Amino acid sequence: MTVTSSPLGIIGLGTMGRNLALNLADHGVPLVAWERDGALAARARAELPAATDWAQDAGDLARRLSAPRAVLLMVTAGAAVDAVIEALRPHLSAGDVIIDGGNTDAADTARRQAAVATDGIRLIGLGVSGGEEGARHGPALMAGGDPDAWARIAPTLRAIAACAADGTPCCDRLGGGAAGHFVKTVHNGIEYAVMQALAESYDLMRHGRGMDVDAIGAVYAAWNRGPGGGYLVEIAADVVRTRDGDGGPLLDKVVDRAGQKGTGRWASLAALDLGVAAPSIAEAVFARAVSAARDERQALSGPALGSIDIAVADLEAAIRAATLLAFLQGFALISAADARDGWSVDPVAVARVWRAGCILRAPLLDRLADAFGALPAGAHPLCAPALRVELAETLPGLRRVAATAITAGYAVPALTSALSWHDGMIRRRVPADFLQGLRDRFGAHTFERIDAPGSHHADWSGS
Ligand code: 6PG
Repeated sequence: MTVTSSPLGIIGLGTMGRNLALNLADHGVPLVAWERDGALAARARAELPAATDWAQDAGDLARRLSAPRAVLLMVTAGAAVDAVIEALRPHLSAGDVIIDGGNTDAADTARRQAAVATDGIRLIGLGVSGGEEGARHGPALMAGGDPDAWARIAPTLRAIAACAADGTPCCDRLGGGAAGHFVKTVHNGIEYAVMQALAESYDLMRHGRGMDVDAIGAVYAAWNRGPGGGYLVEIAADVVRTRDGDGGPLLDKVVDRAGQKGTGRWASLAALDLGVAAPSIAEAVFARAVSAARDERQALSGPALGSIDIAVADLEAAIRAATLLAFLQGFALISAADARDGWSVDPVAVARVWRAGCILRAPLLDRLADAFGALPAGAHPLCAPALRVELAETLPGLRRVAATAITAGYAVPALTSALSWHDGMIRRRVPADFLQGLRDRFGAHTFERIDAPGSHHADWSGS
């Protein structure tokens, strides 16, 4: 299907860029392409249609397009994006649109949007999720920025996006400014939290229950057919069952040190900046830091942990509860950033875009979209009746798993932090009265009284 006859510029043909370009070409979008790296350019030339117009550099690419231009950047987030925008700018004109499809920090997007707006150029920050396969066959696309610029490029992007089961493309403008990149950052933060929870379930099954990888794979495959299914659970079954050349589990040959590119950290930093509790995301980042301290762990390690008696059904419930709670923290984070920056993000639209194509895709997203849609304005998602039912079903299992695991010495930060967040959020009174007493005692920081207005200071000498 051809969605546009106007060529789209694309800069950056690494793995994600090349696969998006192939996806665009499948949909009949004429491309003007540029990749600085010779080897990457050669590979993309071999795979893209012969009709692709190859530019020599960013300026040449802009000159080969006629105004109003649209140029998609698929370059590594950070300084490379600034460099490409600076190289393009002298060759662009008012009304042109730059689309940054990288995992860019929302603050950078806001800064660049303001800078290029002085030339009448619009920058759309586009979160692209789904990895290599998603880019090739249908990613989830989370856009933020100027509505008119979006209207121009939306038909093309909708055509290449994944579709939800009801046929709706998982591609939307989720708000103004840097909303798209912020939503993608939070998506990745939740991705960290859900993966960490799954890793904890693997540890408890493999080392706590002594299950072999085939049995664990069968458990994940069964979970994937139930209400807690989703892409990450589906690939957990594949990953755990994969064998090395010698027939043993490949996982047993993998160094237990997780890498990270920074989006989970950004989501955690945003939560800290905004004063929003997103402990499942932050704990998942810290768990990667613990994994990275491998030498220290080797030196400090004690005897192997003993076996534990945990029901697989409780583990499934624990993962379902921890996943739902991580999503709710992520949505609270998006809502706080939106309140600060005025993007007008609709959480229903976010949940709907995450239904297919992205790493977080799961049937839970349909349930979240419905629950958010039914919530009165300003109500916390934890009061949504359908979500309360889901938590009532799953929290007892999470409590039993968390208690058994920590008693036996297994670290389960994703599971316990999700539970503590939930339990704190539903307490009418938390012990911050006590904290206020301590603060006022040592630093005269003052406190509020429940029975009188204003700020107060007291003599906390104990009598
Ligand atoms: C996606 C992924 C993608 C990438 C992560 C990996 O939505 O397609 O989230 O963006 O896999 O950035 O992040 P880490 O390397 O930090 O785990």
